[in-house]
Amino acid sequence: MQIGASALAVGAAAKVTLLEPTTLLAEATQAAGGDTIRFASIGTGVRGCNLLEASLRVPGVECVGVCDLWDGRLTAGQQTLGKQVHTTRNYKEILDRKDVDAVIVAVTDNQHRRVVVDACAAGKDVYCEKPLSHTVDDGFAMVEAAQKNKRVMQVGSQRVSSILYAKAREIYESGKLGNVSCIQAYWDRNSASGAWVYPIAPGVNDQNIDWKEFQHGSPSVPFDPVRFFRWRCFTDYGEGLGGDLFVHLISGIMFITGTNEVASRAQSTGGLFRWKDGRQFPDLIQTFYDYPNFRVDMRCNLNNDGGEFIGFYGDKGTMIIKGSTLTYSPQNTLPEPEGYSIEGWPADLRKQYLAEWEREHPLPAPYASKLTEEVETYVLPPGYNDTVEHEANFFNAVRTRKPTVENEVFGNNAAIGCHLANYSYFNKRPAMWDAAGKKITG
Ligand SMILES: NC(=O)c1ccc[n+]([C@@H]2O[C@H](COP(=O)([O-])OP(=O)(O)OC[C@H]3O[C@@H](n4cnc5c(N)ncnc54)[C@H](O)[C@@H]3O)[C@@H](O)[C@H]2O)c1
Repeated sequence: MQIGASALAVGAAAKVTLLEPTTLLAEATQAAGGDTIRFASIGTGVRGCNLLEASLRVPGVECVGVCDLWDGRLTAGQQTLGKQVHTTRNYKEILDRKDVDAVIVAVTDNQHRRVVVDACAAGKDVYCEKPLSHTVDDGFAMVEAAQKNKRVMQVGSQRVSSILYAKAREIYESGKLGNVSCIQAYWDRNSASGAWVYPIAPGVNDQNIDWKEFQHGSPSVPFDPVRFFRWRCFTDYGEGLGGDLFVHLISGIMFITGTNEVASRAQSTGGLFRWKDGRQFPDLIQTFYDYPNFRVDMRCNLNNDGGEFIGFYGDKGTMIIKGSTLTYSPQNTLPEPEGYSIEGWPADLRKQYLAEWEREHPLPAPYASKLTEEVETYVLPPGYNDTVEHEANFFNAVRTRKPTVENEVFGNNAAIGCHLANYSYFNKRPAMWDAAGKKITG
C-alpha cells in the first residue's frame, strides 16, 4: 500500500510506503497441510514465553513440552500456551521423546552449547536464541553438531526475518547507495529495565529453582537470585551488551550487506558509569569493526534513550533504519562547478572558469544541482511481529529441509563479533580475528 507523497512529505520529495507483511506465514499455512510439527521449548523465561506466544500464530506447529529450572517458569510457559503440557526441569527428558521434531532453546547464553549439542545429537532441529555462543569455542562446537547431525538450525536474531530488513537489503543490493564504506549502528536505552535491573520474583529459593543446573559449567556460588534473574550482568552466564544487543545490530548489518564472515579487527572503549550494582560489564561500549568492504562504528549506551539505529552511508545515498522506519535519501551526485575554492580568485578568472565549466557541462543545466531521486520511507504495519516471521521461517525449513535465513554459521559469525568487542574492551587492545585458527588474538 502506498501513501501519496503529499500525505507524508519528507523534505522536498518523499514517498512513504507502508510495507506489506510477507508471504512467509501464508507459505507456512500452505506447507503445513495436515502435517503438524511437534516441538518443545527448553527455557521458558521472558524470551521463551515470547517465542511460545509467537508460535501460536504459526500454522501447523504444536508445543508439546516445556522445560525450565524454575517451577514458576514451567507454569508461565503453560499459561502462555493456554494448556497443560509435559513439564520438566531436565531437558534430556524432552530430547528422549521420539514424538518431538524440534526444540526451541531459550536458556541462558552459557547453556546454549550444552543443550544445542545434545539436541542435535538426539536428532532434533533447533531454534536457538541469539547470541548463538557464550564463547568462541562454544560456537564452533554447535556448528559442528548441527552439521554432523544434519540438523536444521535457526539462530534467533529475528530482525533478519523482518520485512523492513528485506527492504533494506533490496535497496543495498540495488546499488542506489553506491559504495558503502561506513556503517554506524547503536542501541541506547535509559531505564532500569533496559539496564537489566530485573525484579526478583517473590518466594524464589533453591527448592523451586534448580540452582545446581543453572550453574552447570560455571564456578559454583551460593544460591543467588540476583544472578538467576540478572544473569546478563555476569561474565559466567552472559556477554553484557555485546551478547544482548550488539548481536542484533551485527546480524542486521550482515544480513543487509550479504556479509557472512567475522570482522578482521575490533577496537572497543566504554565504561561502567551509572549502573554500579555489582555487574561485571560496562554500561557503555563502543566498538569499531573492520569488515572487508566497510567499517562499522557500533555502540550501546544504557545512559541515554537513543533507541535502535543502523545507518548505511554510501557515496550515492544514505539509508537509515530507526526503530520501525527505513529511510533512503539520495546524495546529490550531479556534477557541479566548484563554488568554494574559487572565492579566493580574481573576478575575471572566476567568470572564465564558470563559463568554461558551463560549456563543458551542457546537461544538466549548470547550477541545477537537483536531486533526480526521491527520499523513500518505509514503515512497518502496526502490530507487525518479526519473531513470528522468524519462527515461521524455521518451521518451514524443518518441513522442507531448505536452509533457514539465519543458520548456525551465520549465527556463529555474528556472535563472534560480540566476543571480539568484549575481548577488546576487557584487554584494552584491538581484538584480531584469526579465521584459520578460529580464535581471537590481540
Ligand atoms: N531474540 C531476542 O530478541 C531475545 C530477547 C531476549 C532474550 N533473548 C535470548 O534468549 C535467551 C533467554 O533469555 P531470557 O531473557 O528469556 O532469560 P530468562 O532469565 O528470562 O530465562 C532464561 C531461562 O533459562 C532457564 N535455563 C537455564 N539453563 C537451563 C537448562 N539447562 N535447562 C532448562 N532451562 C534452563 C532458566 O531457568 C531461565 O528461566 C538468552 O539467550 C537471551 O540472550 C533473545
